[in-house]
Amino acid sequence: MEKIIDEKIQGNTLELEPKKENSRKLFIESYGCQMNFSDSEVVASILQKEGFNTTPNLEDADLVLVNTCSIRDKAEQTVRKRLEKYNAVKKINPKMKVGVLGCMAERLKSKFLEEEKIVDLVVGPDAYKDLPNLINEVEEGRNAVNVILSKEETYADISPVRLQSNGVSAFVSITRGCDNMCTFCVVPFTRGRERSREPQSILEEVNDLAAKGYKEITLLGQNVDSYLWYGGGLKKDFKNASEIQKATATNFAGLLKMVAEAQPHMRIRFSTSNPQDMTLDVIETMAAFKNICNYIHLPVQSGSNRILKEMNRLHTREEYFELIDNIKKIIPDCAISQDMITGFPTETEEDHRDTLSLMEYVKYDYGFMFAYSERPGTMAARKLEDDVPEEVKKRRLAEVVALQREHSLYRTQQFLGKTVEVLIEKESKKSPLEWSGRTEQNTVAVFPKENYKVGDFVMVEITDCTSATLKGKAVGFSSE
Ligand code: SAH
Ligand code: F3S
Repeated sequence: MEKIIDEKIQGNTLELEPKKENSRKLFIESYGCQMNFSDSEVVASILQKEGFNTTPNLEDADLVLVNTCSIRDKAEQTVRKRLEKYNAVKKINPKMKVGVLGCMAERLKSKFLEEEKIVDLVVGPDAYKDLPNLINEVEEGRNAVNVILSKEETYADISPVRLQSNGVSAFVSITRGCDNMCTFCVVPFTRGRERSREPQSILEEVNDLAAKGYKEITLLGQNVDSYLWYGGGLKKDFKNASEIQKATATNFAGLLKMVAEAQPHMRIRFSTSNPQDMTLDVIETMAAFKNICNYIHLPVQSGSNRILKEMNRLHTREEYFELIDNIKKIIPDCAISQDMITGFPTETEEDHRDTLSLMEYVKYDYGFMFAYSERPGTMAARKLEDDVPEEVKKRRLAEVVALQREHSLYRTQQFLGKTVEVLIEKESKKSPLEWSGRTEQNTVAVFPKENYKVGDFVMVEITDCTSATLKGKAVGFSSE
């Protein structure tokens, strides 16, 4: 699932088919959002050309890279524990070099080298093409840092190697950075200004994935609805573009259409949508193309207008409801998921009740819910005191999670007795006799394997469910 933070994959080591001529060994591990996992594939692709094969064994590695997340304090603490582990191994294998990539690298910059002296290499999310030079520096005995954020870098020209892929679904990044400046969020600081990738290179990547047998792609960005290509450049500079650039620009709805038309037999997904940027033409494009999945991850963070304002989320609760109503009107069976934060500074019980009542209105299919974690340098950290006690944040979080579970069960129950298309992804974790896949609504479904195989589109009659999983029986191939 394209969860924002998929706990099951946190810390996964990524492995590639070895190349015979390569002699150096890279151990690369990723934490955080899907964009980080996707970036690690770009990094592995760059380093494959530098003579590195990946290894799943930390002890064998010449180079250890960890792609890090700064979104909450807990994410950073997890990475710190890993760095301690790497350093223990380094004592046995002093030739081993350790590098930090991603958001923590960007946030802490050379602090890692100067104060903490626990790593050899610090590389921010826009500097991966500089890795070959930086590694040379390190091999010559110097520490190396590049945390320069770029206005242009989209890695459009690097064909990512697919690491630990099921060969069925893949992620294709379409934008980098974020300009929204939600006051709680560290992403605009660690990933820089928002820029879009050229549509042609996106299409080429999608077509290449189709040729390799992939069946589903997810277009990836911090805020996909904000996608805008007008010949390069930052989103914020679009107002200065020429008339011809403006007239020929591609927005997200246009990109979706291009991708859906190019590969009509592939499932197309996207993540993440932002309520303030999602437009009707995107919803209409979803409705117009059968192969664009009826599922939207639409984080709201809070149901209180006062808190939404403090968070600099540029919409009200009422505008959000209007968007939800439009989605359900145009795509009645569209699944919607949320991200929610409890205990944002100044949040009262009344604000919290507004969150619960917003959830009642939408009845999300599922969600990712977090207790507020103050991030240094953000607007909220600078302007607001983190004044909701930890136990209150936790209690509110538990209430939000419990309500979401009820709604998830309500949503899965709506599938009972229906026959729905499922794309088979892998063996079920619970039983080697069953397949696991997802409906177009992104709900996990498991069913007996019979003679079907991974990558098949199968019609499954749903006979049972939990709040997270549908259970059923295959009744034949999908005719789509
Ligand atoms: N637009 C991005 C959001 C990335 S952050 C995307 O691609 O989804 C993912 C989620 O983490 C946010 O939606 C928010 O719910 C949560 N989050 C971000 N900053 C947080 C903080 N300081 N404390 C708690 N949760 C946070
Ligand atoms: Fe963060 Fe808001 Fe952008 S949550 S990633 S600043 S849309």
